[in-house]
Amino acid sequence: MRSQLSSVLLISTLVLLSIPVGGRLARGKTVGPPEVAWKDMTFKQRKAYMKAAVTPTMKPIFQAFDAKKFSTFNCATCHGNDGADRKYKMPSNDIHALPSTPAAFQAKLKSEATWPKWAEFMSQKVEPAMGKVLDVPVFDPKKPVEGAFGCIKCHKLEASTP
Ligand code: HEC
Ligand code: HEC
Repeated sequence: MRSQLSSVLLISTLVLLSIPVGGRLARGKTVGPPEVAWKDMTFKQRKAYMKAAVTPTMKPIFQAFDAKKFSTFNCATCHGNDGADRKYKMPSNDIHALPSTPAAFQAKLKSEATWPKWAEFMSQKVEPAMGKVLDVPVFDPKKPVEGAFGCIKCHKLEASTP
C-alpha cells in the first residue's frame, strides 16, 4: 500500500517535472549564434536552427517580395526537393543557376526583364538577412572575403561557356 502510494507520487512528480522541462526545450533554447558560431555547430544543431530561426526569419522577407511564388515557403524553397536526401548541402539543385562571369551576368540583367528586381532583392534583402541570422560576414564585392555569405551559397553557377 505504502509503496504503491509512493510510486504514484513519484510518477506524478515525474510527469509534472517533464512537462515544463520538455516545453522549455521545445520552445526556447535552440543552439545557435552568437553563443555558438554557425561554423562550430553540429549538423543536428544547424538543422534545428534552420527550423527555429532561419525559416521564420526569411519567410516574411521572401513573401513580401513575391507573395504568390513564395506562398509555400519551407526548407525546399532553398534546399530544393532533394534537400533532405542531399543532407541539405548547398547550393541547391532547384534554384536557378546564375551566369558564371560578370559579363554574362550583366547580359542577363538586360535580357531578362525580371532579373534586375530579383538581383536587387537578393543582394539588398536576402543576403543581409541571412548574414544576420547566421551571424556570418556577407559577401562584399568591394572587399571580398573568403567564405563570406553570397549568391553562390544558394545558387549554382551555370557551366561556363568560354
Ligand atoms: C532562406 C533559405 C533557407 C531555408 C528556408 C532553409 N535553409 Fe537550410 N541552409 C541554407 C543555406 C544558405 C545553408 C548553408 C549555410 C552556410 O553554410 O553558409 C543552409 C544549411 C543548412 C544545413 C547545414 C548543412 C551542412 O552541411 O552543415 C542544414 C542541416 C539545413 N540547412 C537544414 C534546413 C532545414 C531542415 C530547413 C527547413 C526547416 C532549412 N534548412 C531551411 C538556406 C536555407
Ligand atoms: C538564401 C538563398 C539565396 C541567396 C543567398 C541568393 N538567392 Fe537568388 N534566389 C533564391 C531563391 C529561393 C530564388 C527563387 C527560386 C528560383 O527562382 O530559382 C532565387 C531567385 C533568384 C533570381 C530569379 C531567377 C529567375 O530566373 O527567376 C535571381 C536573378 C537571383 N535569385 C539572383 C541572386 C543573386 C544575384 C544573389 C546574390 C546577390 C542571390 N540570388 C542570392 C535564393 C537565394
